[in-house]
Amino acid sequence: MVQITEIKQENSTVKTLGFDDENCRKATPGQFVMVWIPGLDEIPMSISCTSPNGVSISIEKVGQATGALHQMRVGDSIGIRGPFGNGFTLTKKGNVLIVGGGTGLIPLKFLGEKLAKSQARMTFLAGARTKDEMLFQNRIEPLIRKTLGKLVVTTDDGSCGLKCMITEPVEDLLTKERFDVIYTCGPEPMMVKMFLLAEQHNVPLQASLERLMRCAIGICGSCVIGGFRVCVDGPVFTKEQLQTVREEFGRFKLDFAGRKRRI
Ligand SMILES: Cc1cc2nc3c(=O)[nH]c(=O)nc-3n(C[C@H](O)[C@H](O)[C@H](O)COP(=O)(O)OP(=O)(O)OC[C@H]3O[C@@H](n4cnc5c(N)ncnc54)[C@H](O)[C@@H]3O)c2cc1C
Ligand code: FES
Repeated sequence: MVQITEIKQENSTVKTLGFDDENCRKATPGQFVMVWIPGLDEIPMSISCTSPNGVSISIEKVGQATGALHQMRVGDSIGIRGPFGNGFTLTKKGNVLIVGGGTGLIPLKFLGEKLAKSQARMTFLAGARTKDEMLFQNRIEPLIRKTLGKLVVTTDDGSCGLKCMITEPVEDLLTKERFDVIYTCGPEPMMVKMFLLAEQHNVPLQASLERLMRCAIGICGSCVIGGFRVCVDGPVFTKEQLQTVREEFGRFKLDFAGRKRRI
């Protein structure tokens, strides 16, 4: 059990909760924790930041468990298991393309903070449905300046940045510039598009997937995609790994009863 030490409203639907935990302070971008709300549920959440003073998770309010986390006050207690999963493999240099949509920006902002300390140059594409739902723009901007990179913002309704799907400027960028790696996280149809573009332009890709998670330690099978368990083999997968599950990636997920459901 940990106590909530800090709460920040990030946008209209996302709150960041701070707490401290020795193991989680060592987490790398892309790793996640299981958050237990006593008497209610236990749900997976990416680590959104680590520092010598503590750790944070950023939660979009979508249902009962995330709604309960939004009601929490400083001093309230939650259970934390983890960190779990592999996380992104961090490059130390080179030309890096980061593409994230919605809450996919949560692990990618953390990744950007780590890469800003390396010699990598970052081009960061951040997408949201509307300006109100855009995440972390003011925190990504200084990271980009530091690496002499570029930030491109898109919204579906044009209320902030370019009015288009996040993948549209990517197509243009990939024809003009050579990237050493693409990191992506967000809605699965967006990641499928990124996967296809990475194949077409022959660029290494790392994509962070979401599946239902219960145990997070590879036992229950609720997070399976093809031959992988997303909780232990992922959540970050390379282009080569995704090529082996292309029949399921972007198409099917298991539901709580273990049945395959169309995404
Ligand atoms: C590895 C991983 C990292 C995640 N990181 C974040 C994050 O940083 N911030 C964030 O806001 N959300 C994150 N999510 C999604 C988050 O876990 C779900 O939004 C949350 O579980 C919804 O719970 P609920 O009770 O509020 O909503 P519900 O109404 O119960 O569910 C809404 C939807 O959330 C999904 N969901 C519900 N339970 C689970 C579960 N046990 N595992 C996976 N998905 C579930 C389902 O698709 C469901 O349809 C992550 C999911 C995974 C798998
Ligand atoms: S969540 Fe149980 S095997 Fe992955």
